[in-house]
Amino acid sequence: MKILVTGGCGFIGSNFIRSLLARRPDVSLVNLDALTYAGNPANLRSVENDPRYAFVRGDITDAALLDRLFTEHAFDAVVNYAAETHVDRSILDPDVFLRTNVMGTHRLLEAAKKFGVKKFVQISTDEVYGEVLEGEAKEDHPFAPRSPYSASKAAADHLCRAYAETYGLPVVVTHGANMYGPYHYPEKVIPLFITNLMEGKKVPLYGEGAQIREWMHIEDHARAIELILEKGNGGDVYNIGTGERFSNLELTRKILAAMEKGEEHIERVKDRAGHDARYALDARRLRALGWAPSISFNDGLRQTIAWYRENEAWWKPIKSGEYIAYYKTQYHDR
Ligand code: TYD
Repeated sequence: MKILVTGGCGFIGSNFIRSLLARRPDVSLVNLDALTYAGNPANLRSVENDPRYAFVRGDITDAALLDRLFTEHAFDAVVNYAAETHVDRSILDPDVFLRTNVMGTHRLLEAAKKFGVKKFVQISTDEVYGEVLEGEAKEDHPFAPRSPYSASKAAADHLCRAYAETYGLPVVVTHGANMYGPYHYPEKVIPLFITNLMEGKKVPLYGEGAQIREWMHIEDHARAIELILEKGNGGDVYNIGTGERFSNLELTRKILAAMEKGEEHIERVKDRAGHDARYALDARRLRALGWAPSISFNDGLRQTIAWYRENEAWWKPIKSGEYIAYYKTQYHDR
């Protein structure tokens, strides 16, 4: 099977590529990645000499490039990880979110339709449902995105459904919970807090820390996507969630405890605008397909902290560059 993976140099995509190549000898893939700030070729060093792997630097909004790649490789499937993903950045500068997440998905769907791919997996997010104040969102939960990021992902999901219904394109959309694990860009809460504590800094907790997120280890997500590639029905949507939900304050306390640090390391900062209070997924449809999470949050967190301790060479340069300037304007210098 020949797969086009987009955004494969990011956190979720690179984990999927490493795990798929390790588990599936019958798969070869092309990784199309624009190498924006969050895309890091170092995430794929372990596979870059694998003959089943090829890297192409480029943008999913580039229709001519997509045409050339699809002609050259006759892909069986597409997995679209390419996206702008950070809510705080989308609040400051939404434009690029619309360009990549909406127009980029549209261009990919067009190419997939033209070249007749057999499966298109769109990696989306539970954030399209907006805040789920009680209970759990099923796949038919109404969309109510509340940030420019989640609005752009919701728009792309609508396009996916339109291509499935109108053109019969076998598109599967996934709505994943918050993920964490190795190679996570240190602007997201878990790697930010771990690396801050390693640097002897405080951790910036937004508002009261009462918002609730559902957490999933990145390896469990990779296995879910592999299963969906194989068995997911075109036109279907799958929630990918674990049921492991904590408030941000509880999450912070878990990180502090695992790193043997006290609560004096918490710095309360101004809350995020339009901050979603709670996400919660009903993932029974995917479980019925044969998936279950295998890494508990407590084990996954320990493993993740150990990885950041052993891989300072990966995250230190990221935190010393553009990242710092961004965070200063965002939460500390205002
Ligand atoms: P984040 O990792 O940005 O993921 P998302 O917004 O997609 O859920 O944030 C997770 C939660 O942590 C979210 O409720 C906001 C909160 N948060 C903080 O309290 N402090 C921080 O510095 C960051 C980045 C997030």
